[in-house]
Amino acid sequence: MSTDRIRRQGLAPLRLRGSPDGEGEPLPGLEAPHDGGFPQAVAASEVAPPSEDRAGLDGDAGREPGAVEVVGKPGTPRREHDTVAAGPGPVSAAVGRRAPFGPIERLDHDRLVAEQHASLRSPRRRYCVPARVLFRLMDVVYGKARTLEKFRVLELVARVPYQAWENVAYVAVTHTARQPGFARRVFERVRTSRWEQDNEQWHLLILEELTAAGPRQPWIRSRLVPQVLAFAYYQLSWFLFALRPASSYRLNADFEDHAEHEYALLVQEQPEWEQMPYEGSFTGDFGAYRSLADLFRQIGYDERLHKLESEAHIARARFS
Ligand SMILES: [Fe+2]
Ligand SMILES: [Fe+2]
Repeated sequence: MSTDRIRRQGLAPLRLRGSPDGEGEPLPGLEAPHDGGFPQAVAASEVAPPSEDRAGLDGDAGREPGAVEVVGKPGTPRREHDTVAAGPGPVSAAVGRRAPFGPIERLDHDRLVAEQHASLRSPRRRYCVPARVLFRLMDVVYGKARTLEKFRVLELVARVPYQAWENVAYVAVTHTARQPGFARRVFERVRTSRWEQDNEQWHLLILEELTAAGPRQPWIRSRLVPQVLAFAYYQLSWFLFALRPASSYRLNADFEDHAEHEYALLVQEQPEWEQMPYEGSFTGDFGAYRSLADLFRQIGYDERLHKLESEAHIARARFS
């Protein structure tokens, strides 16, 4: 079944290590690997050895530069390294040496399975009207089936509240600069929003890559509608955050709760993904996973943490 089903899902062939022409081999399920079995995921440490000049990166306090710590098995940290090239100027070069903000909290396989089951068991939030309208619209335009194409659109929209919050908070820093303590606390909101955007961006780029060679919807549905949705959702998030921040956080908590449950169900619906290693272009940024199932479990767990962050802000949404 798997080949047809995967094609319907729109999975693109991923490049796997070991191909003589350097082009890689297609993702198992699309074409059989040379040895007839599933190629193994390549440890990212084999791809990009740690470099000395990554010391002292901020945002990685307590973590060895360039390493993504896997939580779940004490004493067995797994290392992965970013492969971002240094830029042409001093600022872009410095940015290139910093570890990307990939998964919010990287979990090992056992924890990922446990958290997926926890998501499946947990009740959904009572979604607010704008959230219900958005989810209904997505079902009407893209169908009720959980396809990767639909998740790609979801991820395109997912980033924009964080962009809106960053924008509002950054303006607020300008107006509170004469109160350093207050401005500093507002700036922490800016930083959090940036990191959440980065995390959602990796979700989007991974899904773009996975769906690149699959069947595409017409341009209007695959490109125009998502952009319109993202634009409208940005405006709504911006105005809600400027006028009544708790409402903006509540809307986002609903959106993230929906995403968390949908990813958990997606993995449950695709048992063959347990045998497919993930080794796309973004392993240096988001980690290598022993299976596509674990990749999507990790993304689903990220969504839960986004939800919890928004829920934590609902009660004290205003800058203080
Ligand atoms: Fe996401
Ligand atoms: Fe999300």
